[in-house]
Amino acid sequence: MNIIVTGGAGFIGNHVIRLLVNKYPNDLIVNVDKLTYAGNLENLRDVEKCSNYRFEKVDICDLDSILALMKKYEIEGVIHLAAESHVDRSIKDPFSFAQTNVMGTLSLLQAARLYWESRPERYEGKRFYHISTDEVYGALEMNHPEGGNEPGGGPWGSEFFTEDRRYQPHSPYSASKASSDHFVRAFHDTYGMPTVISNCSNNYGPYQFPEKLIPLFINNIRHRRPLPVYGKGENVRDWLYVEDHARAIDLIFHEGRVAETYNIGGFNEWKNIDLIKVLITTVDRLLGRPEGADMDLITFVTDRAGHDMRYAIDSTKLKQELGWQPSLQFEEGIEKTVKWYLDHQEWMDRITSGDYMKYYEEMYANR
Ligand code: NAD
Ligand code: DAU
Repeated sequence: MNIIVTGGAGFIGNHVIRLLVNKYPNDLIVNVDKLTYAGNLENLRDVEKCSNYRFEKVDICDLDSILALMKKYEIEGVIHLAAESHVDRSIKDPFSFAQTNVMGTLSLLQAARLYWESRPERYEGKRFYHISTDEVYGALEMNHPEGGNEPGGGPWGSEFFTEDRRYQPHSPYSASKASSDHFVRAFHDTYGMPTVISNCSNNYGPYQFPEKLIPLFINNIRHRRPLPVYGKGENVRDWLYVEDHARAIDLIFHEGRVAETYNIGGFNEWKNIDLIKVLITTVDRLLGRPEGADMDLITFVTDRAGHDMRYAIDSTKLKQELGWQPSLQFEEGIEKTVKWYLDHQEWMDRITSGDYMKYYEEMYANR
């Protein structure tokens, strides 16, 4: 297949591109990314010269350019990850989230529709796969006071997000993702486009932009900078190793049923404060410091506005229908992740200095 992956220079996107390019040498993988602050082509150095990989610096909101790409590469599948993804930024600037996440998704859908409907085979053999988030379901209650805490986590409440749960987004980010999910379903129901959606929990692993909790805190611990914990650190997130998400995306794209939604998660709930303590002891140990020496970096700060209390995904459907389950235990995943960031200080420094943004000019602009 000839496939467009949007947002391939971002955190999850680069793992998806790497998996597809290596696993399907006869497929063409076209990475369409605008290269916002969150896009980093250095994440893809190891695949950028592969013959079945192309990069196109294009904004998904630019319908004409997307349509031209669909024609140029005779695109049969779209895996849509491009988005504004950081909740804190959405609180400061909700409009750019509506623009990219809602209007961008709509432009992409419309370009795919115009192109595929112009072909004799129309939607035959085509697929539009939209990557969404568990945040569209809102927040769950914490009614298991003794839950969690054990390594590997445990449920902090009796309820989980299932695919039929009512949408109840709270942040501008999750509201924009919810809206984009509705447009994707509308394009199936109205035009017969073969769509599929997945909603995943919090990802962690290599190449995550250091505005998000785990890479930000690992870097701060390394440099002995304060760790700004929102509220009391009581909020719960369900963490999944990013390569397990990429494997699920591959599976759902190829084998998921049209018009279905699949939840993806690791049944791995952690209170932020417990996770942060694991990060501190792991960084300390790997850097040869006394374990826990940096606990005093924890600094409780004003809570995030509208901060969702608990996310917890029920991914039973994905397991039963397509046989997916996480491959990595959290202890192993977090150790690997901390080690990766400590071993890739240069990658981190190029982001914090802004140098990573020059990579496109150096490597691609003159091609
Ligand atoms: P990210 O912020 O790391 O990367 C987003 C990518 O999209 C960047 O490369 C950026 O340059 C690109 N992009 C942004 N606006 C664009 C535009 N207008 N046109 C083209 N490209 C544009 O995000 P991520 O964490 O990798 O998330 C990817 C997707 O997965 C998002 O849709 C997000 O909602 C979803 N998701 C993320 C998580 C998570 O924990 N990170 C969990 C569930 C779902
Ligand atoms: O659940 C999936 C979502 O996970 C994705 O859709 C989002 O794109 C992704 O960013 C992530 O959202 P969160 O808001 O959960 O991730 P973040 O890393 O920003 O925060 C994780 C938790 O840590 C959250 O409860 C807020 C808290 N936090 C975060 C930061 C950056 C802090 O306490 N301090 C911080 O400095």
